[in-house]
Amino acid sequence: MVLLLWVGRVPEWSNGADCKSAIRGFESHPDLSFLKQDHGQAIRGPFLPSPSGWTLNAAAADMQPTSPNASPGMLAVRTAALDLYESLYPKGGSRVAAYAPGRVNIIGEHIDYTGGFVMPMAIGRGTVCVASLGEGGVARVASAQTPGNVVEFSLAGLSPGVVTGWGAYIAGVVKGCLDQRPLPPGLNLSFASDLPVGAGLSSSAALEVSAALAVDAILGVDRPRVDVARLCRRAERDYAGVPCGIMDQYIACMAEAEHALFIDCVSEQHRLVRIPPEVTFVIADSGKRHELTAGEYADRRASCERALDAIRKARDPYRHLRHCTFADLGVPGIDPVDRKRARHSIGECARVLAAEQAFGSRRWAQAGDLMRQSHASLRDDYEVSCDELNTLADRLNAMPGVHGARLTGAGFGGCVVALVHESLAAEIAEELRSSGASPMVVVSRPAGAATVLPG
Ligand code: GLA
Repeated sequence: MVLLLWVGRVPEWSNGADCKSAIRGFESHPDLSFLKQDHGQAIRGPFLPSPSGWTLNAAAADMQPTSPNASPGMLAVRTAALDLYESLYPKGGSRVAAYAPGRVNIIGEHIDYTGGFVMPMAIGRGTVCVASLGEGGVARVASAQTPGNVVEFSLAGLSPGVVTGWGAYIAGVVKGCLDQRPLPPGLNLSFASDLPVGAGLSSSAALEVSAALAVDAILGVDRPRVDVARLCRRAERDYAGVPCGIMDQYIACMAEAEHALFIDCVSEQHRLVRIPPEVTFVIADSGKRHELTAGEYADRRASCERALDAIRKARDPYRHLRHCTFADLGVPGIDPVDRKRARHSIGECARVLAAEQAFGSRRWAQAGDLMRQSHASLRDDYEVSCDELNTLADRLNAMPGVHGARLTGAGFGGCVVALVHESLAAEIAEELRSSGASPMVVVSRPAGAATVLPG
């Protein structure tokens, strides 16, 4: 049993010297030798070695000011949330608004919950929550996307199952925000969004994170961003019943404009991946709404866990799937379906590591190829694609100017994301629209993180 203890202030790590020597110590430890075996690259436990030096950004992101560069889209959504607020709740008193973006995942799918690496970015669409103190010991919650339906629940005695439907996400967030604090007299919340629901653009994390920031702001709570992400993931797991990973909530909380994030889902830290102006992303909706039942999702997760259990028994007990190789899948006791699921997880981790390097050195053909491989693995081994997604990805992959396209998000429907040459993006999007290949096409560069809005 090895106990790793780190003592130090994160900002001092940015010159890398202390951190590098600590990693060298870990690597030479015999019990941690498996950390060096992966995919021909060293994976150094919870730390993130970067090709261009050492950066640990989570702490810096915690300190982001809440001064937004409010985009026109964000302001229009805020107006819709304010209009709804004013139509339902008493005038006067203070209120706040908070915005959280949706995301596309560029690569690293279905591996946040197996302790892998993911590379999402925020997009320029999102959700606004307007909040004020209410009365009667209850939260009143309304959304412009479900007009006429005000959900109401008591702030005392909140627990999973008490609120159902979309209000469950908010109940979970409110419970998390109020944990260990005196109950407020009540809460009035209104939401609006320009994110389609069920399209794989993380509308639920945007809902949760906008709610958490607004409720914290109205209660005067200043919570580190990474804790906001964790609180929201707990809400989704415990109150909405989806055993998700940290990716969606993390990117909503920590995103940076012009960058994707390479997130280590074990240490819950990230480093930035700059997206240079010569490329951009076309996000095309397949039109099929994902019926992501918690069941299908939980089933994939359970498969990976069973495969890992067998590997741990046969090899060593300290691994995540990211520390395994394809050879490990030959250990006895792995069911053939579980083996396919774990093969996706192991291969996808290697692809994310390679993609980060490819993006960093502008090798777009390679980055695109990795995205295509990711799609094939999700289609054939993980079995979370569908005809509509396959057709759209194939079509995009055959278009000039597209480096690579793949399904994004949980799958079973939703969107395809394509890495494209910037100068051809508008043409590609127009062709998809005019030919009816997709009901919604968005061209997006990476957007910024969730924020409390002024006024
Ligand atoms: C959903 C979950 C995420 C992640 C993706 C698949 O969006 O919320 O945690 O698992 O699916 O990559």
